[in-house]
Amino acid sequence: MTTTLSPNVTRRVPSLSAVPNRVAALVNLQTFGCQMNEYDSELVRTILHGSGCSFTEDEAAADVILFNTCAIRETAHNRIYARLDALKEEKKERRDLVVGVLGCMSQNLKEGLLLRFPAVDLICGPDAYRQLPDLIARSRGLRERGTAIELSEYETYEDIAPTRVEGVNAWIAIMRGCDNFCTFCVVPYTRGRERSRDPRGIVEETCRLADQGYKQVTLLGQNANSYRCDGTDFADLMRQVAAVPGIARVRFTSPHPKDFPAKLLGAIASEDHLCKHIHLPLQAGSDRVLKKMNRDYTQDEFLRLVDQIRATIPNVALSTDIICGFPTESDDEFAETEKVMRGVEFDSAFMFKYSQRVGTIAAKLWDDDVPDLVKSQRVTHLVDLQRQISLRHHLTMVGGTVTVLIEGESRKSSAEWRARTDGNTIVVFADSSRTIGDICDVRIMEASANTLRGIPLT
Ligand code: 5AD
Ligand code: SF4
Repeated sequence: MTTTLSPNVTRRVPSLSAVPNRVAALVNLQTFGCQMNEYDSELVRTILHGSGCSFTEDEAAADVILFNTCAIRETAHNRIYARLDALKEEKKERRDLVVGVLGCMSQNLKEGLLLRFPAVDLICGPDAYRQLPDLIARSRGLRERGTAIELSEYETYEDIAPTRVEGVNAWIAIMRGCDNFCTFCVVPYTRGRERSRDPRGIVEETCRLADQGYKQVTLLGQNANSYRCDGTDFADLMRQVAAVPGIARVRFTSPHPKDFPAKLLGAIASEDHLCKHIHLPLQAGSDRVLKKMNRDYTQDEFLRLVDQIRATIPNVALSTDIICGFPTESDDEFAETEKVMRGVEFDSAFMFKYSQRVGTIAAKLWDDDVPDLVKSQRVTHLVDLQRQISLRHHLTMVGGTVTVLIEGESRKSSAEWRARTDGNTIVVFADSSRTIGDICDVRIMEASANTLRGIPLT
């Protein structure tokens, strides 16, 4: 394993106007992974559009195909590998086609990607998107294979307005990078050190979004609640964003349990527009495993935080992330995770099999020694448990009334709306007098583990 604890950091932040190249190319941009990647793709669109590119959904029509990638688990890598192998054949016919890999996977695998995949013409990491027009121009004009994978202590793309997809929700990146170095996680190596944006820029962006008709903003960061810029902390920022007229709901993701001071919980409890939903990634229940993961809390501390959150914010919805089969995790230790899940009764949970990532501390120190079958069994067990808990919660809501924001048509029927409660539960209902972006009250009539169904109240 070769990557070091301190990623290769540079202070160079070229401005967008310094990019000389006009690239009149038709680009097909495909995004994989988390919301931060969705947001980064919106930035990439702005950067490339400013250099003369236009975009197509049709891969076959494109001059340039870009994959904005994720590195968090091997399954994310495998999806891209299969596409890159297929493109090797395709490029025999389309000799001018340029293929680029952006984001975490290029930062993680670096030049190794170019060596392993002949189809790849350029790689560009999450802090180097301003160099993309140049990389594309060189690849098209000079047939050069290019790399831009320097991490920056300062890059926040503050001056670039993302090209957003229409909808009710807009993502706003408030900080980038992560300094926590959980031993399983590749993010500190692919996205570099934590840096927060100026709160004035964030509030101005929120005002513009409200003017454009967005009803909800989601504040994004690898560690959103570690946000700090000069004298402004995350609780201050949340209050400032919640005060923007026209924005009905403010969400945030993804937080770390270590950064939930009483001040932040008080802000969420008292500001109507701050959604009463907290994602609280547990990762594991055993103290020994938590320590080995470098999570900075014990089971008992986590449970006390849950109690404090519930005491401060009545009816708060809690969700979590769990990793099954971290190196050396025994059956008894896994049982501790199950115990916490039964005790807390999260409203929803995401379960993952541990995936060894190149460059992480866990990969350097420990074998990936829990058999894949055992990891799968543990995940399946927790998924079943969570379904029972979610169903039980949802059934208690039948007969009650919830306030929802309509996000779009239901996946199963265009005659029904898909809406979301403040606590992040999906509610499906029919109402021809309403439209996307409306906020309304719905009486719940039916419940399943994933969804509620209801009728609108006038
Ligand atoms: N293997 C499995 N899951 C991981 N996650 C992060 N790194 C890994 C890994 N190496 C999970 C964590 C995190 C979520 C976004 O992804 O649960 O909270
Ligand atoms: Fe990864 Fe831990 Fe940072 Fe989250 S807090 S991005 S899990 S290192």
